[in-house]
Amino acid sequence: MKQFLAALSVIVLIAAGVSIALAISQAQQEEKRLKSDLEYRSILLAESFKEAIEPNINKSEKALQKIVEKFANRERLAGLVIYDNQDSILLLSPNLTKESLAEQQFAPFAMDEDTARGGFATIDGKKMYLIASPMHEDQSVIGAVMVVQNADYIAARLDEIWKRNLLRLGVQIFLIVAAVVVILRWLIFVPIKSIARSLQSPSETNDGKGGAASWFFSPITKEITKMRRNLMEARHAAQEEARSSLERLASPWTAERLKEFVTENAKDRTIVLISNREPYIHTKKGNEITYHVPASGMVTAVEPIMQACGGTWIAYGSGEADREVVDAENKILVPPNDPKYVLQRIWLTEEENKGFYRGFSNEGLWPLFHHAHTRPIFRKEDWIEYKKVNGKFAQTVLNAIQKKEKPIVLVQDFHLALLPSMVKKSRPDAQIGIFWHIPWVGPESFSICPWKKEMLEGMLGADLLGFHTQQHCNNFIETVGRELESLIDYEQFTITRHDHTSLIRTFPISIAFFNGNEAEADYTQSRKRLLNKLDIDATFIGIGVDRLDYTKGILERLKAIEIFLTKYPAYQEKFSFIQVASPSRETVQKYREFAEDVRSEVERINARFQKGTWRPVTLLERHHTHEEIYELYRVANVCLVTSLHDGMNLVAKEYVASRNDEQGVLILSQFTGASRDLKDALIVNPYNGEQTADAIHAALCMPQSEQHKRMKKLRAVVRGYNVYRWSAEFLKILLSLG
Ligand code: G6P
Repeated sequence: MKQFLAALSVIVLIAAGVSIALAISQAQQEEKRLKSDLEYRSILLAESFKEAIEPNINKSEKALQKIVEKFANRERLAGLVIYDNQDSILLLSPNLTKESLAEQQFAPFAMDEDTARGGFATIDGKKMYLIASPMHEDQSVIGAVMVVQNADYIAARLDEIWKRNLLRLGVQIFLIVAAVVVILRWLIFVPIKSIARSLQSPSETNDGKGGAASWFFSPITKEITKMRRNLMEARHAAQEEARSSLERLASPWTAERLKEFVTENAKDRTIVLISNREPYIHTKKGNEITYHVPASGMVTAVEPIMQACGGTWIAYGSGEADREVVDAENKILVPPNDPKYVLQRIWLTEEENKGFYRGFSNEGLWPLFHHAHTRPIFRKEDWIEYKKVNGKFAQTVLNAIQKKEKPIVLVQDFHLALLPSMVKKSRPDAQIGIFWHIPWVGPESFSICPWKKEMLEGMLGADLLGFHTQQHCNNFIETVGRELESLIDYEQFTITRHDHTSLIRTFPISIAFFNGNEAEADYTQSRKRLLNKLDIDATFIGIGVDRLDYTKGILERLKAIEIFLTKYPAYQEKFSFIQVASPSRETVQKYREFAEDVRSEVERINARFQKGTWRPVTLLERHHTHEEIYELYRVANVCLVTSLHDGMNLVAKEYVASRNDEQGVLILSQFTGASRDLKDALIVNPYNGEQTADAIHAALCMPQSEQHKRMKKLRAVVRGYNVYRWSAEFLKILLSLG
């Protein structure tokens, strides 16, 4: 307040100073003008009076008196005086007295100097202007006339100017003070108060356009809001970290513990899990029906939970023999060799599959949510199918939960973004959670999706939305803040829209950590057998396990291997790399092209380096069982995970879990969710071939003790946060909401 008053006083003083200076200058100019005007008029009057008197100077006093009277009625004229050449007053107008003029020497001076003389004087207490002009006869001075003009009006006029200026100054000061107060109040105090209020409150209401800050403060408000969000997010992350550290100290989660937890907490409530991809795909080999588990991070993570807890998993039946093995309700008990839960299949037409899966999900959403420089393609017809298929899934879910009280609905992944709100609308009592298995990008990137609002609205039908990392949660919250009218609470990490609140949380997905045989006696033998089978002759083995997907950085990895073999030629004929590449989304053109690129790159590198029986790269392009992959992990000195963008990446965790010998080195892309937790891996930027090549070199040179130290820590992380804990945490929070 003190500073405000001081600032206001300075403004007022400056304004007053300027006004007073202007008033002084105006008064001076006016005074000068009035005086010179008076002087001029007085000279003219004196001259014409002299001309009238000069020829009549010798006439009688009466005659002179008449002339004087003729001149006397001029405005502002105080009087006329006639002097003889002895400086004596001959005649004067009645309102003047000789005594009052006794002191005035203008007429004697005028006669002495023979020229008009004038000036201001006070007569009888009044300000007057006097001018005397000599009269002549035959060139001799015979006397003088003097005109006495009233000059009081000049002072009155100046007074008036001052009064007016002071009044103006007063009004100005009042207006300035009022304007400053209004500006400070509306432009500064009110917005600052509201910023302060919003800083104190954990929630933030947005109008879908990024907030309604005063335009004056909007740049700073935006920055403060960002900082505040970052702080809230950091605080939230710290709380989460603290919570998980505490949990980590508790005993590890197992399938049995999860089962107990679900029985105790979900009681008899129905649990339905929904995903597009099914956990078991039935196919035909000749006449024989067989099945395989698809290479999907989502399936790898979620399947052990269903095995532990039971329930129904609703998914699209994509296998050619899928229809042949289900019952009338399209259900089958799985795993086929040890049934533990129900798989209920949904059938999609070719048209639905094309628009929903190939088009909108894989050509639109997949590249949209992965920064891998493949342009998303959004087609209206795909979107229509996406909506339709989500509706189809929703209907199946609604049938499955009919008459079931407070069912638990677990929606998986980006194929089913609309499902939560579709189910919620019909069954508000259902507790719905959606887990987003891929990254969530920032609002800017997401904004290119033509149906962005519908997607977000669909997801916000869920009570709980799970993402892999805090960054994905933050991105999601910011996206909603940008796109939809809602109330966001940064302390709780909730979004409220149309009276429904959704909680946004991080659940870094994991695997069912398995402890292999502690010490395989014939490890060297099994390694030999495997390498013989693959026709690989090398001292050091590197491995990569991926779906053939352009987000996995397989081409970048092959380039890094080429750089490595060039830069460290001693490893030629010693290092061999095995790339397990599961065919994926082959109906999508980009995937077919990518698979072709990988094949030709492998051929090129092999052609360049191959010597004798040594082959630098082996590409295993087929589906592999977990057991087969586990075997490969075990022989690999180094595992390369070089995704260009990956929600989590479970291969990294699987490799770590498989290494109960605590040997082997993990090279991990900094763009995977896993890199947040697996800090003892060698973290690389997959776009930097030199760096990855050096990391391969470092891994192969790494002393066993160092490998042991790192692998031990990595294993502790994966063991501590396995998929049972992941699902327990998800369920715990979901159940706590209802
Ligand atoms: C990866 C992603 C999962 C996704 C799956 C889909 O594994 O991490 O989030 O569900 O791909 O693969 P699909 O073969 O079903 O297209």
